[in-house]
Amino acid sequence: MKLIIDTDPGVDDAMAIALAHAMPEIDLIGLTACFGNTFVSQSSRNARYICDLLGFAVPVAEGASLPYGETDYVPSANVHGPEGLGNIETISQIGKNIDESAAAFLVRMAAEHKGELVVCAVAPLTNIADALALDPAFASNVKELVIMGGAYQHNGNITPYAEANIFHDAKAADAVFAADIPIKMIGLDATMLTLLTPHDFHELALHAPKIGGFIEHISKFYLEFYRSVGVMTGCPMHDATAVLACTHPENFTFEEVGLRVVLDGKEIGQTIADDTRPRVQVAVSVAGKWAVDLFKERIVSLG
Ligand code: RIB
Ligand code: CA
Repeated sequence: MKLIIDTDPGVDDAMAIALAHAMPEIDLIGLTACFGNTFVSQSSRNARYICDLLGFAVPVAEGASLPYGETDYVPSANVHGPEGLGNIETISQIGKNIDESAAAFLVRMAAEHKGELVVCAVAPLTNIADALALDPAFASNVKELVIMGGAYQHNGNITPYAEANIFHDAKAADAVFAADIPIKMIGLDATMLTLLTPHDFHELALHAPKIGGFIEHISKFYLEFYRSVGVMTGCPMHDATAVLACTHPENFTFEEVGLRVVLDGKEIGQTIADDTRPRVQVAVSVAGKWAVDLFKERIVSLG
């Protein structure tokens, strides 16, 4: 399948990009960068840095720097690190972004690959909402939108109610769930079942010194954050789980639910059922060990 990942790298985003590159089922044709774990300029720089490390080049289109209706945004550097890749303090600018916005690139690719393009959105949904607004045909041109985001029958992670990607742009997320586009939502109900342990990262580094070693290195900071919030057994591979839902949906359990996003108050960013909305396939579970084992196997194949 042809895939574009909309991303805010981001430690688990880096794992997802590496996984997509390692999956023979995937033809990764581009990355679009969004604010979220990082400022958007860091997201696009990190995306290009990760591709260079993996030894391949795809167009990287920079997108939204701010959530809808906001004039400021400050990333949660305590989760992914000051530059977005854990403890790495200096990240080179390798290559440059294409001269096209993320939204323009998304709608052009969806039109050129009508009915074939899967978009895996693992960042706030601002670029996706922008693409829907830019070209009404985007919703029908894409084959499927697979979102890492939301929490259906699970508590939030950035607040007790909301998952981070949805929380960071609740308005954009609500616009996406209101659109008539084929969506799979891979939220915390599934991704909190795919934890990677320090031993998993050590194995990756042992068997794949370059790419596995990089992933182990950038994950130390991310593991520490999860330990600091009481998740002692490991760190969730949120974004890589969404990539696996693109290629192996049969290993997920879905419920068909219309969704809306709470737009204000303490529950802002909460994803709740709304039967007036188009049906979304919401992942309520995944075979966690299968996902972790396949992720590790594919990363080891990269060396
Ligand atoms: O809540 C997890 C999501 O927020 C992941 O996409 C992670 O990278 C962050 O963006
Ligand atoms: Ca992400």
